[in-house]
Amino acid sequence: MARSDEPPATGHGEDHGVTNERAPEGDRSFGSVKDRLDMSLQEAMSTQRAVRKVLPEQIDDDIVLRCIELALKAPTGSNGQNWEFIIVRDRATKAAFAAQYRKAWRIYGTIGERVTSDQADMAKVLRAVGWQVDNFEDIPTVVVPCLVGPSRFVPASIGQSSHYGSIYPSVQNLLLAARAMGLGASLITLPLWNQFRARRILGLPIKVQPVCMVPLGWPRGRYGPTTRRPVGDVTHLDRFGRREWRDRTSD
Ligand SMILES: Cc1cc2nc3c(=O)[nH]c(=O)nc-3n(C[C@H](O)[C@H](O)[C@H](O)COP(=O)(O)O)c2cc1C
Repeated sequence: MARSDEPPATGHGEDHGVTNERAPEGDRSFGSVKDRLDMSLQEAMSTQRAVRKVLPEQIDDDIVLRCIELALKAPTGSNGQNWEFIIVRDRATKAAFAAQYRKAWRIYGTIGERVTSDQADMAKVLRAVGWQVDNFEDIPTVVVPCLVGPSRFVPASIGQSSHYGSIYPSVQNLLLAARAMGLGASLITLPLWNQFRARRILGLPIKVQPVCMVPLGWPRGRYGPTTRRPVGDVTHLDRFGRREWRDRTSD
């Protein structure tokens, strides 16, 4: 979970001074937003974050398809490209997933509130998730990235990593493309907690596994920057625990 759902007005330090902006005004067709894909990689990465509160306005097909086209540039194990993307727009289908999300959130959200009751920034995130749960049917487009077939890899010890590693890079590409064009997006899994039900809702054959969901829409608020642990806290030289860059400050 993020530390804050509403970022400060400007980014500093590791965010390389990017300013937060709102969704594009006026014409939101593919033709008018496609040049935004030329945004610097650094800015897209620094400001891509979970934007859960989005407008009900539908998104141009070409924008969604371009996001997926760029998602498909990602690597897969053995270049298997064993992926399928279901684009959900039907209200009844979204309502079925909303019911699943609400069930999971009743438990997960209650636990989240208890364990983070002293953290104001987490309360904001929980409110944003609550908004998404309550308004799921009104989110214009929900992409469901799926994997086809069982894990193609042996030994089993790296099987899971290679299996899910064949979809998540594409999901990150999708999130970055959405961010660049000005869409709000988030990566979520809770509505899929009941895989049997999720498959039935989407009419998926047994060999197709829904892995996560990416709700998309024009944002109601602002984008990034994100709040992340400093690089020196999470890097180790040669052996775990040798924190060579602990005191490093980013430029
Ligand atoms: C595997 C995975 C599953 C997630 N599932 C959910 C989810 O079900 N609901 C939700 O609101 N966010 C979900 N998230 C989003 C995270 O909470 C979010 O990426 C994190 O808080 C960072 O947010 P930020 O980028 O805005 O800082 C998930 C993220 C990942 C990577």
